[in-house]
Amino acid sequence: MRSHEAAVLPIEARGLRYKAGGRALIGPLDLTISQGGITALMGPNGAGKSLLLRLLHGLIRPTAGTISFSGRAAGDGAPRQALVFQKPVLLRRSVAANISFARSLAGGGEHVDDILAEAGLTAQARQPARLLSGGEQQRLALARAMALRPQLLFLDEPTASLDPPATLLMEDMIAGIAQRGIKIVLVTHDVGQARRLADDIAFMHQGRIVEHGPAGTLIEAAETKEAQAFFAHRLVL
Ligand SMILES: Nc1ncnc2c1ncn2[C@@H]1O[C@H](COP(=O)(O)OP(=O)(O)OP(=O)(O)O)[C@@H](O)[C@H]1O
Ligand SMILES: [Mg+2]
Repeated sequence: MRSHEAAVLPIEARGLRYKAGGRALIGPLDLTISQGGITALMGPNGAGKSLLLRLLHGLIRPTAGTISFSGRAAGDGAPRQALVFQKPVLLRRSVAANISFARSLAGGGEHVDDILAEAGLTAQARQPARLLSGGEQQRLALARAMALRPQLLFLDEPTASLDPPATLLMEDMIAGIAQRGIKIVLVTHDVGQARRLADDIAFMHQGRIVEHGPAGTLIEAAETKEAQAFFAHRLVL
């Protein structure tokens, strides 16, 4: 079932630039994401991955260039989208209240108990969210994003500080969401995670996309020296 893709795809960025503090941080950048599933956005620290997610999501405005979804300019009926930040920001309330607040913003949707069960957080429902472990907080942040009923989901390094069992729980959740036809753009440094989850990889370096293609091709046989170095676990300067 790929119910939401018609409203989302293709995602197109044309001539995208973002400047702040007198520095050109993004672009000029062109990107076309035309397939569903999971697109991984990879690249070294400071490459501009988090900024590009914020631009695509509409949280910050580009200095120049355009973004469109399914041929419609962002702002002109953009798809419902949610972003989970690199460091999750949770409400200082109970776990269940974090979900029910997001659900009320979306005007209904899946029952809070079902969302909590999917995130493996049923037993913690009444706990203050700030007492959750790091892995549980990430799953709550993802569950809360899902309570917004997005058609398009941006995830910024959702497993960066998690141990292997917590990472696998998150990856199962992410794969399940993609299987429901919700397009995911996932920032990750973890090549194993990209191999397990991603359909395609867009590789960023110094504010630009330097290579974009099927995940297996980038990991095994990248064409650009920057991507080759990254996937060979060498340092990219
Ligand atoms: N508001 C801002 N003003 C000035 N510089 C900024 C701003 N936001 C980000 N930057 C800079 O833009 C560059 C890209 O930042 P970004 O957070 O997108 O990198 P990233 O690829 O997500 O890195 P990481 O892997 O470390 O998360 C960095 O050099 C950062 O310092
Ligand atoms: Mg980042």
